[in-house]
Amino acid sequence: MRKNIVAGNWKMNKTLQEGVALANELKELLAAKAPNCGVIVGTPFIHLASVADLTKGSVIKVAAQNSADKESGAYTGEISAAMVKSTGAEYVILGHSERRAYYGETYEILKEKVLLALKNELTPIFCIGEVKEEREAGKQNEVVKAQLEASVFNLSKEDFGKIVLAYEPVWAIGTGLTATPQQAQEIHAYIRGLIAGKYGKETAENTSILYGGSCNPGNAKELFSNPDVDGGLIGGASLKAADFKAIIDAF
Ligand code: 13P
Repeated sequence: MRKNIVAGNWKMNKTLQEGVALANELKELLAAKAPNCGVIVGTPFIHLASVADLTKGSVIKVAAQNSADKESGAYTGEISAAMVKSTGAEYVILGHSERRAYYGETYEILKEKVLLALKNELTPIFCIGEVKEEREAGKQNEVVKAQLEASVFNLSKEDFGKIVLAYEPVWAIGTGLTATPQQAQEIHAYIRGLIAGKYGKETAENTSILYGGSCNPGNAKELFSNPDVDGGLIGGASLKAADFKAIIDAF
Protein backbone atom coordinates (compact mmCIF):
# COMPACT_ATOMS: atom_id res chain seq x y z
CA MET A 1 0.00 0.00 0.00
CA ARG A 2 1.10 3.55 -0.65
CA LYS A 3 2.79 5.57 2.02
CA ASN A 4 1.60 8.82 3.55
CA ILE A 5 4.37 11.40 3.46
CA VAL A 6 4.89 14.93 4.71
CA ALA A 7 7.83 16.52 2.92
CA GLY A 8 9.27 19.98 3.50
CA ASN A 9 10.73 22.12 0.75
CA TRP A 10 12.90 24.77 2.34
CA LYS A 11 13.52 26.43 -1.04
CA MET A 12 16.31 29.07 -0.89
CA ASN A 13 16.04 29.70 2.84
CA LYS A 14 18.31 29.15 5.84
CA THR A 15 22.06 29.45 6.19
CA LEU A 16 23.89 26.22 6.93
CA GLN A 17 23.81 26.93 10.66
CA GLU A 18 20.12 27.85 10.63
CA GLY A 19 19.27 24.75 8.62
CA VAL A 20 21.16 22.44 10.94
CA ALA A 21 19.40 24.04 13.91
CA LEU A 22 15.99 23.57 12.24
CA ALA A 23 16.70 19.92 11.44
CA ASN A 24 17.88 19.30 15.00
CA GLU A 25 14.77 20.94 16.42
CA LEU A 26 12.53 18.83 14.22
CA LYS A 27 14.41 15.67 15.14
CA GLU A 28 13.87 16.40 18.82
CA LEU A 29 10.17 17.14 18.33
CA LEU A 30 9.69 13.85 16.48
CA ALA A 31 11.80 11.72 18.80
CA ALA A 32 9.17 11.31 21.51
CA LYS A 33 6.59 9.57 19.35
CA ALA A 34 6.97 8.02 15.91
CA PRO A 35 4.87 9.94 13.35
CA ASN A 36 2.13 8.20 11.38
CA CYS A 37 3.71 9.12 8.05
CA GLY A 38 7.05 9.39 6.34
CA VAL A 39 8.90 12.65 6.98
CA ILE A 40 11.27 14.25 4.47
CA VAL A 41 13.10 17.57 4.55
CA GLY A 42 14.11 19.10 1.22
CA THR A 43 17.10 21.29 1.93
CA PRO A 44 19.40 23.40 -0.23
CA PHE A 45 22.40 21.43 -1.55
CA ILE A 46 24.84 22.84 0.98
CA HIS A 47 22.80 21.44 3.89
CA LEU A 48 22.36 17.94 2.56
CA ALA A 49 25.40 16.16 4.05
CA SER A 50 25.06 17.79 7.47
CA VAL A 51 21.31 17.22 7.71
CA ALA A 52 21.60 13.64 6.42
CA ASP A 53 24.25 13.01 9.04
CA LEU A 54 22.36 14.48 11.97
CA THR A 55 19.09 12.74 11.05
CA LYS A 56 20.69 9.33 10.50
CA GLY A 57 18.78 6.70 12.45
CA SER A 58 15.81 9.06 12.95
CA VAL A 59 12.52 9.01 11.05
CA ILE A 60 13.60 12.02 8.99
CA LYS A 61 14.78 11.45 5.41
CA VAL A 62 16.51 14.06 3.31
CA ALA A 63 15.77 15.40 -0.18
CA ALA A 64 17.62 17.69 -2.55
CA GLN A 65 15.51 20.28 -4.37
CA ASN A 66 17.09 19.65 -7.76
CA SER A 67 19.76 17.61 -9.52
CA ALA A 68 21.40 17.95 -12.92
CA ASP A 69 20.25 16.59 -16.26
CA LYS A 70 23.82 15.51 -17.01
CA GLU A 71 25.90 12.79 -15.36
CA SER A 72 29.15 14.71 -14.76
CA GLY A 73 31.67 16.98 -16.42
CA ALA A 74 32.05 20.60 -17.42
CA TYR A 75 28.74 22.00 -16.14
CA THR A 76 29.84 24.78 -13.82
CA GLY A 77 27.60 25.18 -10.80
CA GLU A 78 25.58 22.03 -11.35
CA ILE A 79 25.10 19.17 -8.88
CA SER A 80 24.66 15.64 -10.20
CA ALA A 81 22.33 12.97 -8.91
CA ALA A 82 25.39 10.90 -7.90
CA MET A 83 26.66 13.83 -5.82
CA VAL A 84 23.29 14.21 -4.12
CA LYS A 85 23.25 10.50 -3.38
CA SER A 86 26.75 10.66 -1.90
CA THR A 87 25.55 13.12 0.78
CA GLY A 88 23.18 10.54 2.27
CA ALA A 89 20.07 12.15 0.76
CA GLU A 90 17.53 9.61 -0.52
CA TYR A 91 15.09 11.84 -2.39
CA VAL A 92 15.18 14.65 -4.92
CA ILE A 93 12.39 17.12 -5.71
CA LEU A 94 12.17 17.48 -9.50
CA GLY A 95 9.93 19.52 -11.74
CA HIS A 96 8.98 22.10 -9.14
CA SER A 97 7.06 24.92 -10.81
CA GLU A 98 9.72 27.42 -9.68
CA ARG A 99 12.36 25.42 -11.58
CA ARG A 100 10.09 25.19 -14.61
CA ALA A 101 9.19 28.89 -14.57
CA TYR A 102 12.44 30.60 -13.50
CA TYR A 103 15.12 28.20 -14.76
CA GLY A 104 13.60 27.06 -18.01
CA GLU A 105 13.27 23.41 -17.09
CA THR A 106 11.46 21.79 -19.97
CA TYR A 107 9.63 18.47 -20.16
CA GLU A 108 12.69 17.00 -21.87
CA ILE A 109 15.18 18.25 -19.27
CA LEU A 110 12.97 16.90 -16.50
CA LYS A 111 12.74 13.55 -18.21
CA GLU A 112 16.56 13.33 -18.13
CA LYS A 113 16.71 14.43 -14.51
CA VAL A 114 14.22 11.76 -13.45
CA LEU A 115 16.15 9.06 -15.30
CA LEU A 116 19.45 10.09 -13.71
CA ALA A 117 17.93 10.32 -10.25
CA LEU A 118 16.58 6.79 -10.57
CA LYS A 119 19.87 5.53 -12.00
CA ASN A 120 21.54 6.84 -8.86
CA GLU A 121 18.94 5.31 -6.55
CA LEU A 122 17.35 8.57 -5.53
CA THR A 123 13.58 8.71 -5.25
CA PRO A 124 12.22 11.58 -7.35
CA ILE A 125 9.40 13.62 -5.85
CA PHE A 126 8.04 14.76 -9.19
CA CYS A 127 5.95 17.95 -9.14
CA ILE A 128 3.14 18.79 -11.53
CA GLY A 129 0.46 21.46 -11.50
CA GLU A 130 -1.26 24.17 -13.46
CA VAL A 131 -0.99 27.96 -13.34
CA LYS A 132 -3.92 30.22 -12.45
CA GLU A 133 -4.96 30.97 -16.05
CA GLU A 134 -5.04 27.26 -16.84
CA ARG A 135 -7.22 26.55 -13.80
CA GLU A 136 -9.54 29.42 -14.73
CA ALA A 137 -9.84 27.99 -18.23
CA GLY A 138 -10.63 24.56 -16.77
CA LYS A 139 -7.46 23.11 -18.28
CA GLN A 140 -5.87 21.66 -15.13
CA ASN A 141 -6.42 18.03 -16.10
CA GLU A 142 -4.95 18.54 -19.53
CA VAL A 143 -1.90 20.28 -18.04
CA VAL A 144 -1.01 17.61 -15.49
CA LYS A 145 -1.60 14.90 -18.08
CA ALA A 146 0.87 16.54 -20.49
CA GLN A 147 3.43 16.98 -17.69
CA LEU A 148 3.21 13.31 -16.74
CA GLU A 149 3.22 12.01 -20.29
CA ALA A 150 6.23 14.09 -21.29
CA SER A 151 8.53 13.47 -18.32
CA VAL A 152 7.63 10.29 -16.40
CA PHE A 153 5.28 8.09 -18.43
CA ASN A 154 8.31 6.95 -20.43
CA LEU A 155 9.45 5.01 -17.34
CA SER A 156 9.06 1.28 -17.03
CA LYS A 157 6.37 0.13 -14.65
CA GLU A 158 9.06 -0.91 -12.18
CA ASP A 159 10.75 2.50 -12.25
CA PHE A 160 7.47 4.41 -12.12
CA GLY A 161 6.70 2.42 -8.99
CA LYS A 162 9.68 4.08 -7.31
CA ILE A 163 8.61 7.70 -7.72
CA VAL A 164 6.48 9.99 -5.59
CA LEU A 165 4.23 12.61 -7.22
CA ALA A 166 3.34 16.02 -5.86
CA TYR A 167 0.41 17.98 -7.26
CA GLU A 168 1.12 21.64 -6.67
CA PRO A 169 -1.27 24.13 -8.25
CA VAL A 170 1.01 27.07 -9.02
CA TRP A 171 -1.69 29.57 -7.98
CA ALA A 172 -1.63 28.08 -4.48
CA ILE A 173 2.14 28.18 -3.92
CA GLY A 174 3.16 30.82 -1.41
CA THR A 175 -0.05 32.73 -2.02
CA GLY A 176 -2.13 31.66 0.96
CA LEU A 177 -4.70 30.39 -1.54
CA THR A 178 -5.15 26.66 -1.04
CA ALA A 179 -6.96 24.27 -3.30
CA THR A 180 -10.16 23.27 -1.54
CA PRO A 181 -10.14 19.68 -0.28
CA GLN A 182 -12.64 18.94 -3.07
CA GLN A 183 -10.41 20.46 -5.75
CA ALA A 184 -7.43 18.52 -4.42
CA GLN A 185 -9.31 15.23 -4.24
CA GLU A 186 -10.76 15.68 -7.71
CA ILE A 187 -7.45 16.20 -9.46
CA HIS A 188 -5.57 13.65 -7.34
CA ALA A 189 -8.16 11.06 -8.31
CA TYR A 190 -7.77 12.11 -11.94
CA ILE A 191 -3.97 11.73 -11.69
CA ARG A 192 -4.35 8.29 -10.10
CA GLY A 193 -6.68 7.35 -12.95
CA LEU A 194 -4.05 8.37 -15.49
CA ILE A 195 -1.50 6.18 -13.72
CA ALA A 196 -3.96 3.29 -13.70
CA GLY A 197 -4.53 3.75 -17.43
CA LYS A 198 -0.81 3.70 -18.13
CA TYR A 199 0.57 1.22 -15.57
CA GLY A 200 -2.45 -0.57 -14.15
CA LYS A 201 -4.52 -0.28 -11.00
CA GLU A 202 -1.99 -1.80 -8.64
CA THR A 203 0.75 0.71 -9.53
CA ALA A 204 -1.79 3.53 -9.29
CA GLU A 205 -2.92 2.40 -5.84
CA ASN A 206 0.68 2.20 -4.68
CA THR A 207 1.73 5.68 -5.86
CA SER A 208 1.91 8.39 -3.20
CA ILE A 209 0.46 11.66 -4.50
CA LEU A 210 1.22 14.64 -2.26
CA TYR A 211 -0.55 17.99 -2.29
CA GLY A 212 1.46 21.21 -2.18
CA GLY A 213 0.43 24.87 -2.06
CA SER A 214 -0.15 26.90 1.10
CA CYS A 215 -0.62 23.77 3.17
CA ASN A 216 -0.45 24.68 6.84
CA PRO A 217 -1.34 23.35 10.30
CA GLY A 218 -4.86 24.76 9.89
CA ASN A 219 -5.79 23.03 6.63
CA ALA A 220 -3.57 19.93 6.53
CA LYS A 221 -6.00 17.59 8.25
CA GLU A 222 -8.86 18.34 5.90
CA LEU A 223 -6.64 18.05 2.83
CA PHE A 224 -5.03 14.80 3.96
CA SER A 225 -8.36 13.22 4.86
CA ASN A 226 -9.17 12.85 1.16
CA PRO A 227 -8.72 9.29 -0.11
CA ASP A 228 -6.35 10.28 -2.92
CA VAL A 229 -4.28 12.85 -1.03
CA ASP A 230 -1.36 10.98 0.50
CA GLY A 231 0.34 13.85 2.28
CA GLY A 232 1.88 17.19 1.51
CA LEU A 233 4.83 19.02 0.05
CA ILE A 234 5.22 21.98 2.35
CA GLY A 235 7.04 25.22 1.59
CA GLY A 236 6.67 28.12 4.02
CA ALA A 237 5.29 26.07 6.90
CA SER A 238 8.28 23.70 6.78
CA LEU A 239 10.59 26.50 7.90
CA LYS A 240 9.29 26.41 11.46
CA ALA A 241 9.74 23.09 13.26
CA ALA A 242 6.54 23.48 15.30
CA ASP A 243 4.40 24.20 12.23
CA PHE A 244 5.92 21.35 10.24
CA LYS A 245 5.39 19.01 13.20
CA ALA A 246 1.76 20.13 13.45
CA ILE A 247 1.26 19.22 9.78
CA ILE A 248 2.88 15.82 10.37
CA ASP A 249 0.51 15.37 13.31
CA ALA A 250 -2.44 15.79 10.92
CA PHE A 251 -1.88 12.08 10.23
P1 13P B 1 4.06 26.91 0.13
O1 13P B 1 3.71 25.82 1.12
O2 13P B 1 4.94 27.96 0.70
O3 13P B 1 2.86 27.42 -0.58
O4 13P B 1 4.97 26.17 -1.00
C1 13P B 1 4.54 25.00 -1.55
C2 13P B 1 5.64 24.45 -2.37
O5 13P B 1 6.00 25.01 -3.40
C3 13P B 1 6.30 23.23 -1.92
O6 13P B 1 7.14 22.71 -2.88
